[in-house]
Amino acid sequence: MSNIIAIVQARMSSSRLPGKILLPLMDKTILEQVINRVRPVEQISDIIVATSDNGMDDIVESFCLEKDIPCFRGSEENVLERFYFCAREYEADIIVRITADDPLKDSEVIAKAVSLFEVGDYDYVSNTLEPTYPEGLDVEVFSFKALEAAYKKAELSSEKEHVTPYLYKNPAGFRLCNFKNETDLSKLRWTVDTPEDYLFVKQVYQTLYHKPEEIFLLRDILDLLKQKPELSAINSGHKRNEGYLNSLRKEEEKKEEEEQKQEKAAKVLQEHSLRQRIYGNELKYVNQVLSTQFRSSQGAVMMQRLEEAFAKKIGTKFAIAMMNGTCTLHAILEAAGIGVSDEVIVPPLTMSSTTFAVLQANATPVFADVDPNSFTINPISILNRITSRTKAIITVSLYGLSPDMDVIMRIASEYHLLVIEDNAECLLGTYKGRMVGTLGHIASYSFQSSKHITSGEGGMVVTDSLPLAQAVRRVSSLGYAGVDATKAKITKKTIQDPDYARHLTMGWNYRMPELCAAVALGQLENVDALVSRRVKVAQMYEEVIEDTDWLLPQFVGDDHKCSYWTYAVRLMHPFITWKEFRDRYVANGGDGFYAAWRLTYLEPMMTQRSLLKRDKFISGKNLRRYKKGLCPIAEELQGQLLQFKTNYWNDEDAKKQIQALNKTIEFFSKRSTDQLQ
Ligand SMILES: Cc1ncc(COP(=O)(O)O)c(C=O)c1O
Repeated sequence: MSNIIAIVQARMSSSRLPGKILLPLMDKTILEQVINRVRPVEQISDIIVATSDNGMDDIVESFCLEKDIPCFRGSEENVLERFYFCAREYEADIIVRITADDPLKDSEVIAKAVSLFEVGDYDYVSNTLEPTYPEGLDVEVFSFKALEAAYKKAELSSEKEHVTPYLYKNPAGFRLCNFKNETDLSKLRWTVDTPEDYLFVKQVYQTLYHKPEEIFLLRDILDLLKQKPELSAINSGHKRNEGYLNSLRKEEEKKEEEEQKQEKAAKVLQEHSLRQRIYGNELKYVNQVLSTQFRSSQGAVMMQRLEEAFAKKIGTKFAIAMMNGTCTLHAILEAAGIGVSDEVIVPPLTMSSTTFAVLQANATPVFADVDPNSFTINPISILNRITSRTKAIITVSLYGLSPDMDVIMRIASEYHLLVIEDNAECLLGTYKGRMVGTLGHIASYSFQSSKHITSGEGGMVVTDSLPLAQAVRRVSSLGYAGVDATKAKITKKTIQDPDYARHLTMGWNYRMPELCAAVALGQLENVDALVSRRVKVAQMYEEVIEDTDWLLPQFVGDDHKCSYWTYAVRLMHPFITWKEFRDRYVANGGDGFYAAWRLTYLEPMMTQRSLLKRDKFISGKNLRRYKKGLCPIAEELQGQLLQFKTNYWNDEDAKKQIQALNKTIEFFSKRSTDQLQ
């Protein structure tokens, strides 16, 4: 049987009649009278008050608590989102939308709407598409699926502020039904929006309301108005649906504002010069999280927004947010069932997290060599490392450049291996026109402070595979029952149930905190500008080193677009040492650059076996192989690489580096010529 719930939209702020929903109306408040009039509708199982997370509405929550009325809190402005999360929290199949300022609501009209929805094959039923009922007797019934679609697709602020416009403005996408009253009563105004409305409603109640159980209906009010026609005159003269009309007007103004903003942003992009890295909605979203007071009903809301936006940007079905780009890799391996005695092929020229994740899963890292030009993992070397124990390959999009993924995927398919893209250093890079992150079976990202977008720390997994996404979510959420690929949060109803069997599997608590999600979401909104800035800085370096034959930049083939986490260059001069070059660069005003990480298998934790007892899991001879000579090309490259920073947010800062590099090259070129003479 379908779970039908009524969501009563309620908030204290109102421009014309602040606090109206808690104004007294006979022995109750307006809000209670509304609820009292919805209660007789038998099909409705629960009535929930959905108020905002604005501090002004704390009083609504306290009031509901006192009266034992379920209360949900959510976004103040985005009421569509508030409804969606509320409906999800209460596991609704069908939603009846009620507004808290209509104390003359008619239970028979509501029941009629619900019955129509139940018998017809509709997504949305209402009496408002062509209004014939008095204003204030409006009712809308819609499916959770339709609400979810609106939540995911709505873009205009008028669609978000008013819950259902997206549905009725898209009749091709939703089956709509409007029902009418026999006579057109749409001119009558029975809602409470102004002091005059309140007066009118009070007069009606004073005559018709005797006790809460005796509900008076539309026909009773009409009879009363026949007897006392002067009552209708109290509040006549206001336009119907003023709230929505106001929204449309505001939207026009906002559109103009938005156009101006976009023009400005385009200018910024054109100049490739951002003032700084955090300049968008990050703070606004952080404040939104703080204003929830970390109420559990508001948990994972930002995280979900981020996940949806990230999946959309990369072009995958699922995105799962986590605490960093190391636990993402570990969670993927655990979710894929990779563990003791399994081997995972990784490159050694990368940040050690790629290998750490394998060790954390109690599996064996097997190192494949890299390509001397692109510096990324070499498919031929992968092929040579495959054994009967191999279960997966972790490819690394090093410095923003993906490896030759088509070849790697062919090898993987031949040997039934899982391919995990470690894209911690690559956001919005492409390969043969496809987005990096959609090339392997599953991919991982990092939002650590040096990355393209950051939330201080943070990570993300993306995939098109439902089983993998589900398993990753579960593993990273302590094995909880009730979470799934697109759902990070367990509903209150489930978690409060004494029979709830929580942990379907063992798991880790790797969920991304809401504050990080808020920052990452703000960053993601500016990701194009943030990435193109780095690409621009890389181009500036390139122009300087172009004619220097002893400096070889990472080779980016025609099939690739590199997103340049750093601009990596191979120093290949017989008489200039890495340290000499760096010292001169700094002396010339440069910030300094990074060396490539020591190869992972040559780190003390590997050579000295400080593996926290994981060495016992490492399959036989591999342990003996972690020593010099294993990947000769990577070993040669590691000491030669200069990783120039690309995170300069304005041209002046970048130019300083370019000038320093220019001077340094000139210095050593001259020295070489002098030495030769
Ligand atoms: C290639 C690579 N993988 C994994 C990570 C780990 O990410 P995090 O620092 O978010 O754990 C990083 C960077 O830090 C990285 O560069």
